Amino acid sequence: MKILHISAECYPVAKVGGLADVVGSLPKYQNNLNCLAQVIMPFYDNKFTRNNEFSVVFESSLNLGKTTYDFRIVNYKASSLGFDLFLVDVPQLLFKNYVYSSDDTDRFLAFQIAVLDWILTWEDKPTVVHCHDHHTGLIPFMMQEAYKYNALKKVSSVLTIHNAQYQGWFSHDKVYMVPEFNFNNVGLLDWGGVINPLAAAIKCAWRVTTVSPTYMEELKSSANGLEVLLSHESAKCVGILNGIDSEIWNPETDSFLIDNFNADDVFQGHLNNKKWLCDKFDLEFDKPLFTFIGRLVGEKGVDKLPESFKKTLQKNECAILLLGSGLEIIENQLNELCIQYKGTYNSFIGYDEELAHVVYGGADFLLMPSRVEPCGLNQMYALRYGTIPVVRSIGGLKDTVIDISEENGYGICFDSVTVSDITHAIERAVELYQDQSKFKELRKYIMGLDHSWNKSAQEYINLYKTINS
Ligand code: GLC
Repeated sequence: MKILHISAECYPVAKVGGLADVVGSLPKYQNNLNCLAQVIMPFYDNKFTRNNEFSVVFESSLNLGKTTYDFRIVNYKASSLGFDLFLVDVPQLLFKNYVYSSDDTDRFLAFQIAVLDWILTWEDKPTVVHCHDHHTGLIPFMMQEAYKYNALKKVSSVLTIHNAQYQGWFSHDKVYMVPEFNFNNVGLLDWGGVINPLAAAIKCAWRVTTVSPTYMEELKSSANGLEVLLSHESAKCVGILNGIDSEIWNPETDSFLIDNFNADDVFQGHLNNKKWLCDKFDLEFDKPLFTFIGRLVGEKGVDKLPESFKKTLQKNECAILLLGSGLEIIENQLNELCIQYKGTYNSFIGYDEELAHVVYGGADFLLMPSRVEPCGLNQMYALRYGTIPVVRSIGGLKDTVIDISEENGYGICFDSVTVSDITHAIERAVELYQDQSKFKELRKYIMGLDHSWNKSAQEYINLYKTINS
């Protein structure tokens, strides 16, 4: 079985969010299951493309309306990734030092056309084309409807929705950029009077998946306008929980950690990482250390953080270290906390993958007050590193964290994104920390939970089989 994953992001090449982690790990696990899983993504101007060598496998040109762009497909075949990686180089559009921007319609349309032009030339077509999010959402439509891709009509397509908030909308004025198709079917591109790539993919892909079962259910009542469509297409939709790359996220071998550890010496290992963090960020070491890691956007509930932190810090029972960047107003409020609560609060405004690893290895609790969380990977990284998740019960968080009040529970869950729920959850965590024997026992226990891709990679393969038998 030959699977081609198509995505705007892939770790370690280019990462904005969890999409990159998934596309950078699922194919590796699928290859372990006797498949040939490959990835194709844009060739951006970044550290990875500058520091590595690539060989050209295909050269051609494509049209967006009347404008012609030359492009190349290059291959990076280092075995270290665990899958073959191909990149689409459209120098004028994709070779930028960013992944997303305001010109995404043209950029990702060119990317998708280039990918299909290339697949057209394959002698052995892929068994399945696996598209991720709206940036690749026009592919199932083009395979089904565009005259030039007639030879790809029988190739099955799967769409995975990592986040339905973003849909890639653009005006019908730009429809001329889509390779020619029977215009009677233009409705397949439309949702609510505009071209909606995510909606088009939901309509045209052979199967649609989301990254957790609970999120799939939630989408039927809350999907940024696509609720009716998803309910209507529910027969071909399924939620498959993401996994994590447990080779990269392994506290025993993680080279970013200050001190490596396993479940047997997690207590000391955590202390050593925590000590380093507390020294670096000037935080009191003897208090339970909470962290938040991620983008500072409304979806993650961060607008409630400054006040919740303030209320918590006033009690002087814990320390908090935040890592992330995003909304300026939140960044500013958090910076004020750094001054007001010096010694118990600090933040690193920015994105630093290496530091994030140390934080998972040194913090006591990870806070995720998400409003929307299709899956969430951070809570799984935390579990693997013996850091107890404190999460709002939503989407994938609901599928991966069980509250300590329940049988076999190991995390702290709360219901709403409010200051009172968040501060109450933090209080419960502080109480748990005070019961050191229970806390240590839980720490060991969560490290043994299996959130690797083993199970879900197989579920995807089973799904592909249902459309290729
Ligand atoms: C998106 C979602 C996140 C999910 C990730 C990977 O970033 O917001 O919940 O874990 O994609 O699927």
